[in-house]
Amino acid sequence: MIDQPNPTHLSRGALVAEKLVIRPDLAVIRLEVSPEFRPIPGQHIAVVHPDGERRPYSIASRPEHDYFFELHVRRIDGGKVSRWLVDEVSPGDTVRIQPPAGGFINRDSPDGQKLLLIATGTGLAPLLPILQEALERNSTAGIWLFHGGRHRRDLYADDRLRRLAVQDDRFHYFGCCSRQAPGDPLLSGRVTEWIEHFLPGLSGFKVFVAGHPEMVADVSTLCSTLGVDPAVGLITDAFEFDHARVNDTWEKSTIRMNRSAPTPDPELWGQLGNGAILQEVLRDFYELAFEDERLGPFFAGVTQQRLREKQYSFLRSLMLGTRDYLGQRPRNAHHWMVISDDLFDYRLERMTECMRAHGISEPLIRRWHAFEEFFRADIVKHQPIARTLNGQPLRLDGFEDMTLDEGSLCDACNQGIDAGSPVRVNLRLGTVYCHPCFNREPGPGSDRPEAE
Ligand SMILES: Cc1cc2nc3c(=O)[nH]c(=O)nc-3n(C[C@H](O)[C@H](O)[C@H](O)COP(=O)(O)OP(=O)(O)OC[C@H]3O[C@@H](n4cnc5c(N)ncnc54)[C@H](O)[C@@H]3O)c2cc1C
Ligand code: HEM
Repeated sequence: MIDQPNPTHLSRGALVAEKLVIRPDLAVIRLEVSPEFRPIPGQHIAVVHPDGERRPYSIASRPEHDYFFELHVRRIDGGKVSRWLVDEVSPGDTVRIQPPAGGFINRDSPDGQKLLLIATGTGLAPLLPILQEALERNSTAGIWLFHGGRHRRDLYADDRLRRLAVQDDRFHYFGCCSRQAPGDPLLSGRVTEWIEHFLPGLSGFKVFVAGHPEMVADVSTLCSTLGVDPAVGLITDAFEFDHARVNDTWEKSTIRMNRSAPTPDPELWGQLGNGAILQEVLRDFYELAFEDERLGPFFAGVTQQRLREKQYSFLRSLMLGTRDYLGQRPRNAHHWMVISDDLFDYRLERMTECMRAHGISEPLIRRWHAFEEFFRADIVKHQPIARTLNGQPLRLDGFEDMTLDEGSLCDACNQGIDAGSPVRVNLRLGTVYCHPCFNREPGPGSDRPEAE
């Protein structure tokens, strides 16, 4: 049996590169983190206290741009982890963190999408990378950001956000304080009072709300009355401090956003030995599947190693909530396979036998199943479906020469292929070959694709 997780075993060390205490109860902490942690704007990491207690903190930066993971931590009176981070942790220290997670992300925004971002206090943190990414994407019809606090000092990014609003006319910023000093030009009152004043109708908006749970609940109610469909247009990150409810809240907000991917489960990944046990299960499963009467015929022409590697990287990216899987999505990968519900169940039973053989407990098996089940509707079908590349339907067999819209990896030499390069694609397998590989003389055992 696998032991219950010990958070310090599932975590990685991160170096505190900088710490700026911008007021006695608020610190901006910049961490140098292992490059394998690649957050999606809006996600959080969990920081683990030396005692093993952990708390989520949102990532306020975009590490792919400015390298560091920036956290904005408000010290809570009597709080264990926030007090330690604000008062005790120093540059040069190493803190333990768990991988980026969470569904507070801006997925699938169409061109022309209007965004409304609302935060109180450090709820601003996850909104900043979402804001930056949306502005860079250059397709937004406008972004409105309301940042609320009790006092002016709570609006700790006021200057920076005002400057940005002057520089970019797509961005509109409103700072609101409920306890305002006389003569201060900030909006006086709570954010909920001002949203309706400036934006009386919110249909067509996607709304992101982060911060104190009560504010998130109030704004959610308000948004519904102003025309936001809570199922698709409202994404929330309540900074719950009732730890028993934290997981539940994450789960709900993540499911709402992640229609194209299951809710990440980094803890499951940790329980699977950070991938080591997953690798063993996949090795056993494919050995069995290739010999299996019902499953074996599907695998003609594919190697076990390729499948193991693809599956591993696919499940890793799903469980950790990262976006680094380079293979095909299941709908495309299985486009030519006629797979019934019964066969789907049969494969899952064989896989489950391998999980049990490695001592994975039943609750963890159920959590793993959730990732497999998520794709049932993409895989089970009564006839083959056309596969698409660059948005175009492809024939079901043979090779085709084409130009890639997005960068990829060559399936023969494993080198990167830049967007715009000519490639040859095996239409059934979906394997992609770079120009040097499909022009090279075939050697013994070469899998070089022949032109049609
Ligand atoms: C998804 C998510 C993202 C988060 N991101 C951030 C972030 O970017 N920055 C940030 O500063 N915090 C963030 N938080 C909150 C953070 O995780 C901790 O809950 C917070 O720092 C308090 O932890 P603590 O260990 O210091 O306090 P604890 O030891 O957990 O609590 C001590 C006492 O204070 C009470 N308490 C805790 N928080 C509050 C509060 N806000 N108001 C009133 N009473 C409280 C508790 O109920 C308890 O009685 C986030 C929370 C979630 C769920
Ligand atoms: C009965 C059910 C299934 C069968 C028979 C099956 C069979 C296959 C086969 C033959 C391939 C190789 C495809 C190729 O290279 O042409 C493949 C690839 C793959 N399968 Fe499945 N599969 C099944 C279910 C699933 C499920 C449930 C998932 C996801 C949870 C999944 C994820 C993948 C992935 C990620 C790949 C690699 C895609 C790539 O090559 O880029 N499969 N599968």
